[in-house]
Amino acid sequence: MKVIVTGGCGFVGSNICEFLKNLSFEVVSVDNLSKIYSKLNLKRLSNLSIKNYNIDVSDKNKFIKLNYKADIIIDCCADPAVESSRKDILKNINNNLITTYNVLEKAKKDNSKLIFLSTSRIYPIKDSRQKFTAFLKKKNKNLFNEGSNIIGPKTIYGFSKLASEMLIKEYNYAFNIDYLINRCGLITGPWQFGKVEQGLVSLWLWKHLNKDNNLYYKGYNGSGNQIRDILFINDLCELLYLQIKKFKKIKNQTFCVGGGIKNSVKLNQLTKICEEITKNKLKIKHDLDTSIYDIPFYITSLDKVKKYYNWRPKTDLKIGLYAILEWMKKNYTLIKPHF
Ligand SMILES: NC(=O)c1ccc[n+]([C@@H]2O[C@H](COP(=O)([O-])OP(=O)(O)OC[C@H]3O[C@@H](n4cnc5c(N)ncnc54)[C@H](O)[C@@H]3O)[C@@H](O)[C@H]2O)c1
Repeated sequence: MKVIVTGGCGFVGSNICEFLKNLSFEVVSVDNLSKIYSKLNLKRLSNLSIKNYNIDVSDKNKFIKLNYKADIIIDCCADPAVESSRKDILKNINNNLITTYNVLEKAKKDNSKLIFLSTSRIYPIKDSRQKFTAFLKKKNKNLFNEGSNIIGPKTIYGFSKLASEMLIKEYNYAFNIDYLINRCGLITGPWQFGKVEQGLVSLWLWKHLNKDNNLYYKGYNGSGNQIRDILFINDLCELLYLQIKKFKKIKNQTFCVGGGIKNSVKLNQLTKICEEITKNKLKIKHDLDTSIYDIPFYITSLDKVKKYYNWRPKTDLKIGLYAILEWMKKNYTLIKPHF
C-alpha cells in the first residue's frame, strides 16, 4: 500500500513515516522543511530509505504535479503553534487550510483516501474554561467528545483546522473522497522538540534534564493547575495502522483521540514526574498573565474510538516519559541545538 505523509519531516509525520515503513508500507513524505528540526528528521527518513519531496503543499500547482499516486494521504502538514497563529493569520490559513484544500484536490485527482490530523483546539476556549471550573468543583468530568460544541472563538489555528475538517466533509459529499478525521489532544514522544506553545511535555522534560530553571507556570494564577491528557506517538501510530486496515469498513468518521482520563495530568503533577525520573528539581517561576488563547482543561472522551477500533492508549504516563528521557540522553549532542 502506498502512503503520502504530508508534513513527514515534522514530529508527528516523521514518526508515522517510520512506523509505517517498519510495517513494509511504501511511504513518501512531502515537507517543505519549514521547521529547523525538519532537516534532522529528513536525515532520519533518508536513513530509513523514505524519500521526502521538498514541496510547499500550499502551492497547488507544485503539489498536484507530484508524480506519486497514493492509496492514502495522511495529512500532517500544518503550522500548529497556537499563540503565533494570530500574528500572521494568512500564513496560518495557508499552512493549515489551503494545504488541506490542495491535499483534497490531489486525493480527487488520484482517487486517494484521506486521514486528517485535526486538533482539540477546534473546541471553543470558553468551553474549556467552564469545564475546568466544573472539574475543580468535582461536579463532573464532562470530557470533550465528538458531539461537544464547536461554536465560539478557538484561536486562528483552531479555526483553520475546523475549516479544514468542514472542507473535507464537503469533498466527501460532492466528490466521494473518503476520509477519517482524528481530533488529537496533546501528543508527545521522541523526536519532539518542545517549545512553550508546541510540545510542552518534551520541553518540560528537557528543562529538567538540563537543570534549566527558565520555566514558568503561565496563566491561571501561575498555579500550574492546567490539565491535559497526554497521548504518546506510538499509541497514535497503532491507531492509524488499525484505521488503514479497517478503512473499507470504517470511513467518513471523526474521532476524538487522546490520552484519556487515565493519562491526564496537571502541569504541576507533570513537574513531579519530571523531578522523579530526572532526579533534578527546578525553581519554576510564576507568570500570572493568562493569554486570551490559553485553555486550562482538555481531556478526551475515548468512547467512540474505543467502540469502533477497540483501541485505547497503552502507554502509561511515567513509562512514556521515561522513553522520551532515554531518547534525549541517547541523542543528546545531536538534538541539543533543536530545543
Ligand atoms: N503535536 C501535537 O501535540 C498535536 C496535537 C494535535 C494535533 N496535531 C496535528 O498533528 C499534525 C502534525 O503536528 P506536529 O506536532 O508534527 O507539527 P510539526 O510542526 O512538528 O510538523 C509539521 C510539519 O509540516 C511541515 N509543513 C508546514 N507547512 C507546510 C507546507 N505549507 N508545505 C509542506 N510542509 C509543511 C513543517 O515543515 C513540519 O515539518 C498537525 O496537523 C497538527 O495540527 C499535533
